[in-house]
Amino acid sequence: MRVLVTGGAGYIGSHTVLQLLAAGHQVVIVDDFSNAKPTVVNRLETLASQPLTVHAFDVADRDRLDALFADPAAPIDAVIHFAAFKAVGESVAKPLDYYRNNLGATLALAEAMLRYDVRHLVFSSSATVYGESAPVPMTEDLPTSATNPYGWTKVMNEQILRDAVVAHPLLRVALLRYFNPVGAHPSGQIGEDPAGIPNNLMPYLAQVALGRIPKLSVFGDDYDTVDGSGVRDYLHVEDLAAGHLAALEWISTHDRPLSVWNLGSGQGTSVLELVRAFERASGREIPYEIVARRPGDIATSYADPSLAERELGWRTTRTVDDMCVDTWRWQQANPHGYPS
Ligand code: UFG
Repeated sequence: MRVLVTGGAGYIGSHTVLQLLAAGHQVVIVDDFSNAKPTVVNRLETLASQPLTVHAFDVADRDRLDALFADPAAPIDAVIHFAAFKAVGESVAKPLDYYRNNLGATLALAEAMLRYDVRHLVFSSSATVYGESAPVPMTEDLPTSATNPYGWTKVMNEQILRDAVVAHPLLRVALLRYFNPVGAHPSGQIGEDPAGIPNNLMPYLAQVALGRIPKLSVFGDDYDTVDGSGVRDYLHVEDLAAGHLAALEWISTHDRPLSVWNLGSGQGTSVLELVRAFERASGREIPYEIVARRPGDIATSYADPSLAERELGWRTTRTVDDMCVDTWRWQQANPHGYPS
């Protein structure tokens, strides 16, 4: 298949591009490089030993999308849509930017797909759509909600796509609800490269281990969890990328218009357990202090991934220790992320 990957230079997109190429697919990347560096593309080309087709524009640009879909020499068979703003705190400060960017991209893309009769779409959703009071393990049939504008863009994009498949029943859409993707490509050449100080735990830990940040702040030790710190379902980005290939394959060979799958390990790991795992992987001590809870955080989040296992034959294969080892390899090889 020729697969259009929006956000293909981003963290999850880049890992998925490599797996698509390895599986024999052709890939067309659209990325505006607002949160990715062009060097990613060079690294992908080296790792895949082939040149890549990359278009640098915003997915919401209808004219550019039309030109891409209309190219008779390179017809698009399916779309994996990663491109989105994703920082929770920033979304609270700039809600309108988040709604315009994250909803505008999906609308423009879905409309272009309908104009050019492209029927298969895999959408990057998030476990954040389960809101703040969902029981664990979280199953796909729980009601959706959100606590911040970023989360609402995921809920709203899911709704847009649900409504679209009702009106256009030939569409085949997968909503993939990711839990906490971490880790890096085993080569150490591709990984997560957050701009500025990381918001998320794993890249933060990596920078503390490196000595770039003096210590970790653990946001709360009074949750009702194994050790009082927050519990999350971490999954290796390579397992997550494999989930996209499995979902794409499934929707291409089945007639259900809309599919929703959790992609998680089903295991909860606390902040302090992850600190210990990172210490083992890096051989370095991680200094930390306990501070107040972070507003908006929930105590515990982990998936029931059994639907994806039953239907897609997909499950995670890498452990938390693997995730830390690969993150550390990437961070050591790229202490300042990708070169500009
Ligand atoms: N944490 C710390 N210190 C830090 C950063 C995080 O203690 O410096 C803790 C958090 O309180 C939480 C855990 O580490 O208990 C994980 O936090 P992350 O920020 O890494 O991940 P979240 O689960 O908060 O957020 C992730 C994604 C969001 C998504 C959310 C729900 O980053 O995009 O899952 O799906 F919305």
